Amino acid sequence: MRTAASSPEIRIDSYLSELDERSLAYDVLDGLTRPFKEIPPKHFYDARGSELFERICELPEYYPTRTERSILDASAREIVRVTGAGELVELGSGSAEKARILLEAMSSAGTLRRYVPLDVSESALEEAAILLVEEFAELTVHGVIGDFERHLDRVPRAIAGTPRIIALLGGTIGNFPPGTRRRMLREISRLLGPEDRLLLGTDLVKDPRVLEAAYDDAQGVTAEFNRNVLRVINRELDADFSPDAFEHIAFYDRAHEWVEMRLRACRPCTVLVSGLGLRVEFAAGEELRTEISAKFTRARVQEDFLAAGLELECWYTDSDGLFAVSLGRRL
Ligand code: AVJ
Repeated sequence: MRTAASSPEIRIDSYLSELDERSLAYDVLDGLTRPFKEIPPKHFYDARGSELFERICELPEYYPTRTERSILDASAREIVRVTGAGELVELGSGSAEKARILLEAMSSAGTLRRYVPLDVSESALEEAAILLVEEFAELTVHGVIGDFERHLDRVPRAIAGTPRIIALLGGTIGNFPPGTRRRMLREISRLLGPEDRLLLGTDLVKDPRVLEAAYDDAQGVTAEFNRNVLRVINRELDADFSPDAFEHIAFYDRAHEWVEMRLRACRPCTVLVSGLGLRVEFAAGEELRTEISAKFTRARVQEDFLAAGLELECWYTDSDGLFAVSLGRRL
């Protein structure tokens, strides 16, 4: 672990190491040698991928970010009143835009103590921390640079007597297939004390045309974001993918209730992944799955919560029922 302190109110612990470059190597070796090729979506997010994702969030077709923000704007005060929370732990905090809304409500309620962002991006976390301690005089930030699939045990202990909210927002939980999702929720629920709450953002089931447009925008930003994973593999593992030889595919799978993104080889090609000593063949039209993004109903969230030992306590949604923010506590 490495600790950096830029001011007395900020502490940042880093748990990322070469181990994480190995996680890409492992996922590529495993995913590209399967009969149905697949790369997990977490590898989209290098600097360029994160920038493309920020642009996606601004697209007219991509409603989740702005809808979740409007739900938080409308319900943050009630969430703080119901929970009495003075601490926010945010898994995958990014630029902390949503955290600010909740911290603001805690500050107004006079309960605000600490923000614990956990993210793989050190620069985003550090910048957010500096801005937030300037904005809220009573706030301390204890950042954790890590991967919430592996570093949940690094989240600092709760402050005695201060209820906390552990937030997983943006619909990120939808990236995990159902079994992994319930395991993740169970692991998060283990961090909750009796007065603590989980705050979960989920995109909702809706007209497939709306969903498909959100993942296949007219400007082609999502297509570039999708192909970016090939650039990441090229750079990190010395591979020779031609991103332009792959077509962006996004469709709603009604049976699974998730959006799937794939990259389809336009022609037959051989890819060398020198860093792994691996040669991979793509047939013309062969598809590589790069993401699933599950869509939820209230019943589905409730079932997943129950399976993870959680009770769905409050459900906040927008007037069009596009997105939901759920509050849960331990059973
Ligand atoms: C960050 C996982 C919530 O699934 O909507 C956006 C990622 N992929 N457009 C999502 C994403 C394509 C996003 N999450």
